[in-house]
Amino acid sequence: MLTQDELLSEISRLRRERNAVILAHNYQRPEVQAIADYVGDSLGLSRQAARTDADVIVFAGVHFMAETAAILNPEKTVLLPDLRAGCSLADTLTAQDVRDWKARHPDGLVVVYVNTTADVKAEADYCVTSGNAVQIVQSLPQGVPVLFAPDRFLAAHVERQTGRTLDIWQGACHVHEAILPAHVDAARALHPDAELLIHPECGCSSHVLQEFPDLRLHSTESMVTHARESSAASFVVVTELGMVTRLERDVPGKTFVPVNRTACCEYMKMITLENVYESLRDLSGRVTVPHDTALRALLPIERMLAIG
Ligand code: 13P
Ligand code: SF4
Repeated sequence: MLTQDELLSEISRLRRERNAVILAHNYQRPEVQAIADYVGDSLGLSRQAARTDADVIVFAGVHFMAETAAILNPEKTVLLPDLRAGCSLADTLTAQDVRDWKARHPDGLVVVYVNTTADVKAEADYCVTSGNAVQIVQSLPQGVPVLFAPDRFLAAHVERQTGRTLDIWQGACHVHEAILPAHVDAARALHPDAELLIHPECGCSSHVLQEFPDLRLHSTESMVTHARESSAASFVVVTELGMVTRLERDVPGKTFVPVNRTACCEYMKMITLENVYESLRDLSGRVTVPHDTALRALLPIERMLAIG
């Protein structure tokens, strides 16, 4: 078993030898964020994956993120250090579900969150992230039925922002759904001067917006930008716990309090320094997408990358 220092130096050596890049989501463990070449939200990570000239992409995130990178880079080796790192939200929707909806709405448009499998994206017209869902739905022609899937809380946020009625798939992320209005109220009572940073996947967002109708919801990357620019000195972070690591590192001098210490995504935490090292060493955990699926999924992904 290697020590932490040995792991770090082996990862550096292998990264150079293999011409590899490590892309990490904001919810990753602190020590994994610390070794990444880029840490960001789903949109930023997809953009990095689209523009990298590395031969190997190690995805410190979950399976749908690695699939998106593989679709954008069919000639590169994309590795997910633990192939069990899935997503409860992506699991709520299948390609057949989308085909069934399209059969009922042949003139409809399908907008899927990036938190979906490649098979689902291949059936979609548009892919969105929390960073650009509102803008993309705003750009769609009026009067056309739109399926928005799979996150019902993000869908409600998009409906509020665009004034448009969507056909909403009733999926949710188990971590964000479990953040309740009572957790937000308790954190606010303890930190009355703190500003709220709320992710649109959170089940509590509509409750909070009743009291603060002008409050902006944020993708994880937008939380960083907003915290930097805001005059507030402290923030309650209403999303997955890992986000606090990213905010503390990139916005020094301000205080970040997690809304609830149990808001932890076990899939994101499956990526460790050990399995990043093993994956780089053995090129294990390779994620590929069948050519036909990748070709069909590319258009909605490119539309996602073009906006926001
Ligand atoms: P963003 O980082 O794109 O806001 O997404 C959050 C998330 O839940 C990713 O799984
Ligand atoms: Fe999926 Fe939720 Fe984990 Fe994000 S936090 S990867 S949406 S299960």
